[in-house]
Amino acid sequence: MNYKIAVIPGDGIGPEVIGQTLRVLDEIGKKYGHEFEYTEVPAGGNAIDSEGECLPQKTVEICKSSDAVLLGAVGGPKWDHLPGSERPEMALLGLRSALGLFANLRPAMLFEELADACPLKPELVSGGLDIVVVRELTGGIYFGEKGIVEDENGTAAYDIEKYSEMEVRRIAKVAFDMAMKRGKKVTSVDKANVLESSRLWRRVVTEVAADYPEVELNHFYVDNAAMQLVRGPKQFDVIVTSNIFGDILSDEASQVTGSIGMLPSASLATGNFGMYEPVHGSAPDIAGQDLANPMATILSAAMMLRYTFGLLEAADDIEAAVQKVLADGYRTADIAKAGEPVIGTKECGDLIVAAVRGEA
Ligand code: IPM
Ligand code: MG
Repeated sequence: MNYKIAVIPGDGIGPEVIGQTLRVLDEIGKKYGHEFEYTEVPAGGNAIDSEGECLPQKTVEICKSSDAVLLGAVGGPKWDHLPGSERPEMALLGLRSALGLFANLRPAMLFEELADACPLKPELVSGGLDIVVVRELTGGIYFGEKGIVEDENGTAAYDIEKYSEMEVRRIAKVAFDMAMKRGKKVTSVDKANVLESSRLWRRVVTEVAADYPEVELNHFYVDNAAMQLVRGPKQFDVIVTSNIFGDILSDEASQVTGSIGMLPSASLATGNFGMYEPVHGSAPDIAGQDLANPMATILSAAMMLRYTFGLLEAADDIEAAVQKVLADGYRTADIAKAGEPVIGTKECGDLIVAAVRGEA
């Protein structure tokens, strides 16, 4: 099969981690007889520099006419002075909205080999951690009405959190379907003791749960969920939540694993279309120095094979190759312990490609 992938290398370490990921995909393509055809497109800070805007229309069009999008990272200090609406990060929001990417899957798993990186006491995570945050990505306060008004107290600004039943139902279904393939447990996170939008959220999630009798559902208020994530992270399987709560809790969950450089993510639309990117940012401080860990992006490509292309065996193969490189003791700087030898971005890619090939 031939698959068309729009590739957004982005800013900072984005191009380096994407470079190694495409090598791994090419190797997988050879091994399983698939052809991955890449179209590189600008978005983020580099697009501001070269096209005058963070998300050029032609980028959106090429993404739309591809089977999937693979993104490195966007943003950096060079563009920090720009007003909010012109910052590179707006490219992400624009892509999510233009491509209808309403379901953001952010797995937070503890790699056995990296258990020491977890900042929690070992007894809290013994036996590993495997959580997936299912974040609603195209609604809520991020995309609600916003504005600046003048009133008797001077200037005021507002952003509205609003969810429709349709939006809650479709993200809840994604979470329950995911739970069916995993630990059959969904924790829905809201602030229903205070927010009307959360009360609707809770009611709709509870209705959807009726179609999944095998899945255990519980509801947490967001403050409690934040606390429970560090107090007893093993109680979670699938967490489903709104755009803004998911933004916050997914960062917390990733830090609980201690290896943010390892974590992939998927943003899915209806049908199988998706955009895949590492959870980490553009890390401008280490950009261009062969220091970045490409594993999160490589694992994002594995998610692309699994969720958009349905190439389950090939996806497993990439994950196994990453696991093997870790098990063999290789570490990029972000996941190495003090004094341990480290490998660079390129060598990490070489090792994963070799593992896919079945070379020792
Ligand atoms: C994320 C990021 C983005 C978000 C920013 C960069 C707009 O924090 O993907 O989690 O808030 O969604
Ligand atoms: Mg975030």
